[in-house]
Amino acid sequence: MTEVLSTSENATSVAASARARIQLSVVIPTYNERDNVPAIVEKLDRTLSGLGWEVIFVDDSSPDGTASAVRALAQTDPRVRLISRHNRRGLSSAVVEGGLAAAGDVIAVMDGDLQHDESVLPDLYRRVASGEADIVAASRFLATGKTEGLSSREREQMSNTGIKLANFFFGLNLTDPLTGFFAMRRETLERATPNLSALGFKILLDVITSLKPRPKVIEVPFTFRNREHGESKLDNRVMYDFFLFFLEKMIGRFVPVPARFLSFAVVNGFGILLHLAILVPAVSLFGVGFDQAQLGATVVSMFSNYALNNAITYHDVSLKGWRFWFGFVVFAVLCSVGIFANVGVASMLHREFAGMLYVLPALAGAFITVVWNYVATKFFVWGRAKA
Ligand code: GDD
Ligand code: MN
Repeated sequence: MTEVLSTSENATSVAASARARIQLSVVIPTYNERDNVPAIVEKLDRTLSGLGWEVIFVDDSSPDGTASAVRALAQTDPRVRLISRHNRRGLSSAVVEGGLAAAGDVIAVMDGDLQHDESVLPDLYRRVASGEADIVAASRFLATGKTEGLSSREREQMSNTGIKLANFFFGLNLTDPLTGFFAMRRETLERATPNLSALGFKILLDVITSLKPRPKVIEVPFTFRNREHGESKLDNRVMYDFFLFFLEKMIGRFVPVPARFLSFAVVNGFGILLHLAILVPAVSLFGVGFDQAQLGATVVSMFSNYALNNAITYHDVSLKGWRFWFGFVVFAVLCSVGIFANVGVASMLHREFAGMLYVLPALAGAFITVVWNYVATKFFVWGRAKA
């Protein structure tokens, strides 16, 4: 009897909350935030009591079981939703996928570690809903905004440099273009989607720079709190992704290029420097014959290119153990083909356009090689990579 009663009671309350139209969808990317999940939902429940809302956690199969923590709440609270991704990592792409799955017309993006003060949410919502701006960003650095959560002096300096770079390169004038706390209409995100890089952490910057004409952005202050549970995922990888994000956006104005290719080209560029750093002293200082030095430098830089690409460019599918060495053999064979292609193309151009400065055919040859190496090794060495 009690069973029946509680079920129908439950059904009534579900129906009641289902009737409340969803006005605001809060999207929260999570990676190892298990202990923060219940507290966040409770805080949202308190601050958003006057609104129809839902929260979408987008979790990348966190090993700490964050997804189960969300599911446990979702079983009894239909406002709580979970998107659980497999074989994926990335704050920005998580936010994009959560935002596109949202039911509300307004989306707020917020970190899942309680560092973002949820009491700002109603204000963010109102300003977007009223059309005051396309995007309303919560700034850590605007007048009364506080930053106790920037754990170290270094972290603060890094942040300052990032802000200056972002404002300068993208022609913005924001106190906190890198904030991960902001709201926009879902439709704004949808319009930005085709041009998004979705790489790394800089989702706000990504959305702003993906829209033409540029959206109207206003800022409101908030206090960046300290993290209590878990730890920050902003590591060297995220910094490197920020660098690639810049390259992608700058070059993307002219030709669209995948971030992986850019990373591959950066590694290749480093390989050339390494090659010269071995070749030149070997020949000029130590009197090694050119052919031998060239061969040695080629093998070393090829290995370095392989190992760096495996660790950085393809970090998500990097090869280990015997696969690592097998991959190197395949990589070396494919890149040797690349060298023939290089020489072939360069000589052909040099013959056809004899008047052309010989540096140009040489560059064309080098370019063909990078493209060939990238395409071939992506397929045959790191074939498991999704994008
Ligand atoms: N799904 C998913 N996948 N979520 C992630 C990932 C990931 O790979 N990496 C981080 N997150 C989640 C975290 O679980 C957290 O909820 C949120 O994204 C922010 O991550 P933190 O690791 O706490 O970042 P932070 O506090 O160091 O960085 C904050 O400040 C930066 C500016 O300095 C964030 O707000 C950034 O967005 C912001 O750019
Ligand atoms: Mn954080």
